[in-house]
Amino acid sequence: MACVIIVGTQWGDEGKGKIVDLLTERADAVVRYQGGNNAGHTVMFGDKTFVTHLVPSGILRKTTSVLGNGVVIDLAELIKEIEELEQMGIDVENHLHISDRAQLVMPWHKTFDRLGEEQKGKNKIGTTGRGIGPAYKDKIGRSGVRVGDLLETEHFRGRLEELVVENNQRLEHLYKSAETPFSAAQIFAEFTTYLKKLKPYICDTPLLVNQLVEQGKNILFEGAQGTFLDVDHGTYPFVTSSNTLAGGACAGAGIGPTRITDVLGIVKAYTTRVGSGPFPTELFDKDGELLQSEGQEFGATTGRPRRCGWFDALLVSQAVRLNGITGMAIMKLDVLDKFETLKIAVGYRLADGELTENLPRSLENVTPVYEEMPGWNCKTAGITDYDQLPPEMLAYLERLSELVGAPVSIISTGPKREESIVLNPDQLWL
Ligand code: GDP
Ligand code: IMO
Ligand code: MG
Repeated sequence: MACVIIVGTQWGDEGKGKIVDLLTERADAVVRYQGGNNAGHTVMFGDKTFVTHLVPSGILRKTTSVLGNGVVIDLAELIKEIEELEQMGIDVENHLHISDRAQLVMPWHKTFDRLGEEQKGKNKIGTTGRGIGPAYKDKIGRSGVRVGDLLETEHFRGRLEELVVENNQRLEHLYKSAETPFSAAQIFAEFTTYLKKLKPYICDTPLLVNQLVEQGKNILFEGAQGTFLDVDHGTYPFVTSSNTLAGGACAGAGIGPTRITDVLGIVKAYTTRVGSGPFPTELFDKDGELLQSEGQEFGATTGRPRRCGWFDALLVSQAVRLNGITGMAIMKLDVLDKFETLKIAVGYRLADGELTENLPRSLENVTPVYEEMPGWNCKTAGITDYDQLPPEMLAYLERLSELVGAPVSIISTGPKREESIVLNPDQLWL
């Protein structure tokens, strides 16, 4: 039995989808525990590329796939995603389970996400525009609607009528918008159609997951976003609105912390970020352009170019600490194939001149202090044999591991499932 949490250690897009897919071969279930369709998890095998947004990546291997209570769900987008998967021959019906406690992304959440960003102007977060922040705001403010509410028609109709009044007031007075007000009757009709399609999937997922645990099954918890987008521990306010950390898996899936056996941190061999917010090792030169082009760093959800920079050991060592990481998958090493020299941030010079090796509360106005290492400057893309890896890459990996304080468990040399080197496969938990 193993319960392994897969968590992003930077600002998302580390390659979680690829590793979840790789490990799902040995898993009995894959569970999403937070976030919504702001996520974009890419899985490539054969000549196919899949990007999952809400449905756990495990679905591609026809594994029990759970949308936990901590997820916020846009039903229309979920149905679209299910239909796309079905068109690709994936049997969703027999594998997907949706928590009756998960919150719904309502039409006003998407509108308020957009209007809120417009109001913030140059201080905008750069959200994915999927309504995630407003949905979590209403969850915490106890003005949300849960999947289970849909099952009680008259209760849902009443709740909707109240919420539409409240949100039309917000639309008019808070956002000063002249857009068409929300209509309870129209939303009721739309959501009734969604329910018809989704009803068979809705269940008590904490019960399901705990039963699987008791049966000794192997379960993967698929984190979305990354450690520094966490609402408590990230670069606030430039964060998402959920606890993306491994700790979030317990509340978001409804399992106890004693069940978790391991936490695998997904680490990009350099750093990227989409949206606004501080990014100390960001590059604005040719090296940054090379990372962007070699890494094809465009958002899997919004298509926005990702900002790129050197590996930041302060960030990842903090992620190791915050998540209790027991092993790391180092991703996209092949993207560094053309670099003669690699830099790693090992400290920050603060505005007052002080040097720190621990992550400060604010990452604004810090200057990274770099250590340089020789690049391997040869093609490693697609290598699957550890003995063929160049010595400079092994030295880079050893240094990263030493700096951040966690062992390397998987080395990734390309986007495809098979372009991976699993160190000690017998010890890989599942
Ligand atoms: P996620 O959100 O963490 O699942 O990551 P994304 O799917 O948003 O972004 C990761 C991108 O890197 C995807 O396009 C993957 O196909 C790709 N990728 C993953 N691992 C590797 C790798 O080792 N090398 C290269 N070149 N690409 C990779
Ligand atoms: P995956 O799971 C990278 C970023 C957005 C924005 C901030 C808040 O694919 O790694 P939100 O829409 O969540 O309110 O946006 O968080 N963001 C991500 N960046 N990968 C993601 O997911 C992200 N999900 C949200 O760009 O800066
Ligand atoms: Mg992504």
